[in-house]
Amino acid sequence: MAVLQIREMQCFDIGAVMAVERVSYTLPWTEAVMSDCINGPYCCEVAMHAGELVAHMISQQVLDELHLLNLCVAQHQQRRGIGLNLLQHLLDSGRRNQAKSVFLEVRASNTSALNLYRSLGFETIGQRRDYYRDKQGREDAIVMCVDISS
Ligand SMILES: CC(C)(COP(=O)(O)OP(=O)(O)OC[C@H]1O[C@@H](n2cnc3c(N)ncnc32)[C@H](O)[C@@H]1OP(=O)(O)O)[C@@H](O)C(=O)NCCC(=O)NCCS
Repeated sequence: MAVLQIREMQCFDIGAVMAVERVSYTLPWTEAVMSDCINGPYCCEVAMHAGELVAHMISQQVLDELHLLNLCVAQHQQRRGIGLNLLQHLLDSGRRNQAKSVFLEVRASNTSALNLYRSLGFETIGQRRDYYRDKQGREDAIVMCVDISS
């Protein structure tokens, strides 16, 4: 894949971000939540490829813990290394900012995301029962962590 440009998410990106979000998740974030993130203490980034917004990632660092809150790649651009690229970027930024660990939560059924996270060294450290809503009811969250201190 050609070079991916990763940059800060701007207010004018929200329409394109929401289009990716709505197609990729059964229960997407709302536009209001996304706007609050841009204006709040979060790191909101987008990945651009050939002028198209192809993914977004939202994270927050609290002291030496970095939390990944959202990672979403446009459906037609999936399985081309974009998710991996963004996550490597996140781990590199965390190291630069003296984070020691990166945490995330993922739906127990989300095999693609679980595989991606495991490929970068994330390990399961817990499970939150019935944490997520889904169209049928509730689903567990797998809590994962990777140590980036060394
Ligand atoms: C999960 C997601 C971010 C992966 O992004 P992506 O750009 O498609 O992933 P990559 O191409 O970088 O894949 C990297 C690795 O992840 C795993 N992976 C990605 N998609 C997969 C799939 N459909 N099935 C199995 N493994 C998969 C593989 O290990 C893959 O390595 P490989 O291609 O060498 O086998 C993407 O599918 C997505 O946005 N899904 C919808 C939103 C979502 O679920 N986000 C995660 C919330 S926690």
